[in-house]
Amino acid sequence: MEKQNKSSFTGSLGFVLAAAGSAVGVGNIWRFPYLAARDGGGLFIFVYLVLVVTFGFTLLVTDIAIGRKTGKSAIDAFETVSKKWSIIGRLAFIVPAIIITYYTVIGGWIIKYFVDYISGAAAQTAQDGYFTGFITSQISPIVYMLIFLAITAFVVYAGVDKGIERFSTIIMPGLIVLVIGIAAFSLTLSHTDADGVTRTGMQGLAIYLIPDFTGVTFGKFLNILLDAMNQLFFSLSVSMGIMITYGSYVKKEVDLDKSISQIEIFDTAVALLAGAMIIPAVYVFMGTEGMTSGPSLMFISLPKVFMSMGSIGSVVGVLFFVMVAFAALTSCVSIMETLVAGVMSKTGADRKKVSLVIAVVAAAASVVICLGYNVFYFEFTLPNGAVAQILDVADYISNSFLMPIVTILTSIFIGWVVKPQWIIDEMQRNGEKFGRKGMYIIMIKYIVPVIMTVLFMQATGILNIIQNMFTNIIG
Ligand code: PHE
Repeated sequence: MEKQNKSSFTGSLGFVLAAAGSAVGVGNIWRFPYLAARDGGGLFIFVYLVLVVTFGFTLLVTDIAIGRKTGKSAIDAFETVSKKWSIIGRLAFIVPAIIITYYTVIGGWIIKYFVDYISGAAAQTAQDGYFTGFITSQISPIVYMLIFLAITAFVVYAGVDKGIERFSTIIMPGLIVLVIGIAAFSLTLSHTDADGVTRTGMQGLAIYLIPDFTGVTFGKFLNILLDAMNQLFFSLSVSMGIMITYGSYVKKEVDLDKSISQIEIFDTAVALLAGAMIIPAVYVFMGTEGMTSGPSLMFISLPKVFMSMGSIGSVVGVLFFVMVAFAALTSCVSIMETLVAGVMSKTGADRKKVSLVIAVVAAAASVVICLGYNVFYFEFTLPNGAVAQILDVADYISNSFLMPIVTILTSIFIGWVVKPQWIIDEMQRNGEKFGRKGMYIIMIKYIVPVIMTVLFMQATGILNIIQNMFTNIIG
């Protein structure tokens, strides 16, 4: 069964930029830097890089090759190969269906900050309580979410080559220029605080890149590993049907091995550059304490940093939020495309109609997420100990719960049922070289299922329960 979808990317470059557009998102620009700052700088980076070329590569190859080989979007791809395993496709489809509901909300926050900076309200965003005041308000977050969703829907509505590919081809080079430019600027910063201490961007860069082993125990290292692993899956958009769908739009003559390496490099380079842009700037104006601010980094710490830069800060702020908006939009496009492609193939309806229906349904669900900060506010403790609102619960279910299950099932299916050769054949269909073939086989058969099971048990709290049982028995 090697039917090619009607729609396709025009060539290898279009595919690489669209897939990189999906991969490069708020995960790279927001999450990667704060995890690196929290988890020992260069130590985290090193662990992450090792995981990219092993795990990341394996999962990207798997998704993209399944997509191209079957020519089907996620929901149908598994069914085409085996009726018994079609459940994987359905589960994989649920992940983007959940992610879209909160990604649009975060996208709306980004648009709001962009509008604030461009309209000269930058100073306001740096005030204490501004962010909380905004997200807990009832109307404004919904309006911005709808703007973000409308742009996304417009691109998906326009189709694979005329919408997604064209949009990514314009946006992604722009994003690269912006991230390099802002990172270079960050490194030139220098500031003397009230105590007479001067900190420079270059010192900040050193803190970011040099591995910090202080207080690293085995347990702590395990946590760093888990953080890096979770970050990797989210960042590469794997195991959620997205790369299967994009893979189904790749022409048969494209060299997958080469394209996949380019996607890996693109995604990782943007994450590294985002760290080089954010960490030195935060260090210069807020010192090492500022660097551990975690999720509040983008919407609370950075506006304060831009403020401290003086008048140039509002220009840097505009550029920064344009860049993040670019990154978030191309990611959200890939999420929505996966849903649209799935519904199109199940119902036979046309793209335009399906795009509109999905946009309306997503809008309704995203409104609920927005209201999670006021009307539906609650504090729920997740199995991993974090206190959550609706947005965090949705993130937990999709990324910590469903995604590992999809990955475990996919690796068993490919590694043991259809066998890795099935994927390898697709990678080498035009006689290309599949560089990491040996590693691929070992990873997909043994390492991925085992490590993902541990990750799943950790995220759901099962690992803790087992540990406690052991301590009780021994103690
Ligand atoms: N990979 C994107 C990022 O790093 C996020 C994303 C998640 C995109 C899931 C698509 C699907 O932000």
